[in-house]
Amino acid sequence: MARVETSSSRPYHIVIFGASGFTGQFVVEEVARTASEGPNGTLKWAIAGRSQQKLEKVLEQAAGVLSKPELRTEVDVIVADVGEPDSLAAMCKQAVIVLNCVGPYRFFGEPVVKACVENGAHHIDISGEPQFLEGMQLNYGSQAAEKGVFVIGSCGFDSIPADMGVIYTREQFKGMLTAVESFLTISSGPEGGCIHDGTWQSAIYGLADSQKLRSLRRKFNHKPLPTVGSKLKRRGALFFSNEIQQYAVPFIGSDPSVVKRTQRFLTEEHQATPVQYGAYAGVGGVGNIIKLMFAGMLFWFLVKFSFGRKLLIKHPEFFSFGIFSKAGPSRKQMEASSFQFSFHGEGYTEDKDPSQGKPNARIRTVVQGPECGYVATPIAMVQAALTILNEPAALPKKGGVYTPGAAFARSTLINRLNKHGIQFSVI
Ligand SMILES: NC(=O)c1ccc[n+]([C@@H]2O[C@H](COP(=O)([O-])OP(=O)(O)OC[C@H]3O[C@@H](n4cnc5c(N)ncnc54)[C@H](OP(=O)(O)O)[C@@H]3O)[C@@H](O)[C@H]2O)c1
Repeated sequence: MARVETSSSRPYHIVIFGASGFTGQFVVEEVARTASEGPNGTLKWAIAGRSQQKLEKVLEQAAGVLSKPELRTEVDVIVADVGEPDSLAAMCKQAVIVLNCVGPYRFFGEPVVKACVENGAHHIDISGEPQFLEGMQLNYGSQAAEKGVFVIGSCGFDSIPADMGVIYTREQFKGMLTAVESFLTISSGPEGGCIHDGTWQSAIYGLADSQKLRSLRRKFNHKPLPTVGSKLKRRGALFFSNEIQQYAVPFIGSDPSVVKRTQRFLTEEHQATPVQYGAYAGVGGVGNIIKLMFAGMLFWFLVKFSFGRKLLIKHPEFFSFGIFSKAGPSRKQMEASSFQFSFHGEGYTEDKDPSQGKPNARIRTVVQGPECGYVATPIAMVQAALTILNEPAALPKKGGVYTPGAAFARSTLINRLNKHGIQFSVI
């Protein structure tokens, strides 16, 4: 199969697909903001979606928010629908990179990945759905490699902070890092905060289908990664974390799956030492635990049945105690929200043999940033795209379907994120 040239001779460096979605609109604003950092007109971009009218409204709004009236006239609009392959092909032929914000990805993602691979456009998504992410690796990994196309999944809050955080922790560690635990805490201001319904739906269908993920993983036929040094102990379903001084639970998002895939890639392709990883999220005090347990049990029960899923989808606020909502967070809520990932790593100094005894060195790093879903996610997604555009030599030698860590381990993505408000530091 001939390799398709993905070069800036295409009319747009970036096309934002799903620009009319809740997240898409903030990705549009972030691209507009970032484009103005470079010399005028350097970054050529367009927005895409299934409704011309809605897309024009998005430009109108972004023009107002950013005080850039020129957005209304200077940014092109492409109409494309996931259900119409020709429209997707036409969109992909015009783009060096498609930023795909159309989710749930399990329903809408694959045709876009296919169109990108067939038409030579790189694909970046913000999926937090392991089944979609790993399924794309299985189904399109070799074709993307043949075509020289990079399909890089989970480039939002899921899972750039966790995946790049583990890589950063290893880079900063003096010796051989063998295990990392991360603890996520989210803070919101006096008006609270919430996550838009789009992510709620992705979570509902993801959990309902978790059986399929297990059978998908068997198809990779992977050997378990070797455990170097002491085995990392798994914590319980609920525990008091001394690290973040609050109760914590295992993090059920895509981070563990993404970090594990990255570690496999780095071990197999670059002979790196695999880092064991455990991901946890703080839940606060006893009041929150009671709410969480109640909501969690109801969720696990309802998600198994079609009527239950319909109920969950119809009433996100009620069943999630206000964590998810159909309206999504307000701009004011977003401004007052932030996240912090605390990484606790352990390993062996150079003079110590990891097969002999317990780790003798520790490190603590932090990744922190603004509101996770609609401020940090667009920043991470856009910086991932700029890394592809500006640092092709730092990417893996051939195209393929990659995690952020696998694609960007040798790039300056962390520096780029530091400059744009997602900060990595050693404590
Ligand atoms: N990684 C992270 O941390 C993170 C953060 C935020 C969001 N996300 C993920 O991003 C995805 C989107 O979330 P959201 O809250 O923005 O959802 P949303 O508001 O429902 O947006 C969905 C978008 O998909 C478009 N769409 C739906 N069907 C389509 C079709 N057939 N053809 C073309 N476009 C179609 C919608 O277009 P219309 O406007 O025309 O309906 C809309 O633009 C979800 O999967 C969510 O989990 C991830």
